[in-house]
Amino acid sequence: MPHVTLEHHTLYFEDVGSGEPMVLLHGFPLSSQSFWPQLERPPAGVRLLLPDHRGFGRSTGTRGPLTMEQIASDVLALLDATGLPSAVLGGVSMGGYAALALTRMAPQRVRGLVLIDTQHLADDAAGRERRERVAQEAERDGAGLIAQAMGPRLLAAQASPELRERLHRLMSAQAPEAIAAASRGMALRRDASEVLASYPGPTLMVVGAEDPITPPATARAMAALARDATLEVIEGAGHLPNLEQPELFGAVLEAFCARLQATMMTQPVGGSHRP
Ligand code: MLT
Repeated sequence: MPHVTLEHHTLYFEDVGSGEPMVLLHGFPLSSQSFWPQLERPPAGVRLLLPDHRGFGRSTGTRGPLTMEQIASDVLALLDATGLPSAVLGGVSMGGYAALALTRMAPQRVRGLVLIDTQHLADDAAGRERRERVAQEAERDGAGLIAQAMGPRLLAAQASPELRERLHRLMSAQAPEAIAAASRGMALRRDASEVLASYPGPTLMVVGAEDPITPPATARAMAALARDATLEVIEGAGHLPNLEQPELFGAVLEAFCARLQATMMTQPVGGSHRP
């Protein structure tokens, strides 16, 4: 599996499919393997780059909270290492927070933004306290109990026992230190309303119709802020539509990339935000 060697850690990533480059960032507490249907069958016309965030999956970790800016700077290093001046950037939930952080840092490297079951707002005080409790629970009790607590909220009621079990195994396999670091890092994230409102490229909001964590109302609020927004509500899915409805999810990504390419072809020279 390819990797990028950084100053204090190694970032692993999956690289599958061919066509429009798209980086997809995984949610919490997961890894690139949470895109298993997309790894098995990448969307047509799309090259998917799927990193493991620091400390998750096969990436090594660093000390302290894992901030969304750190994830973003790792993604920028990944783009550099793969020779990509820009890519479509997507993220599921925590991955969406990091995608918004990267868009704040380097909008010129984002050809299009795909925000999946995520939100633009920062945590309130109660949310930040909850993050610290989760971090301490992970450090004290390990990943298994976090997986047990989170599992029931991630998938729609109709999800199969096999899907639930596979997701549980993946969450339980993550390093407790990474879970604690990411929980503390999410608590530090900034409100990204102005990032959404100022980003000039196309933005796709994808949300499971039955997501109780970042529900369709949140995706609609983000779509109302973004300059060039498309909203796709996926029926029969909760917080992880890429696992729950992989066919519909893949079709939505394919359509977004096809539209992006068509727009690039009709834009006058200099009219694109591609660097
Ligand atoms: C995720 O799926 O990444 C989490 O639900 C994000 C969060 O806890 O805010």
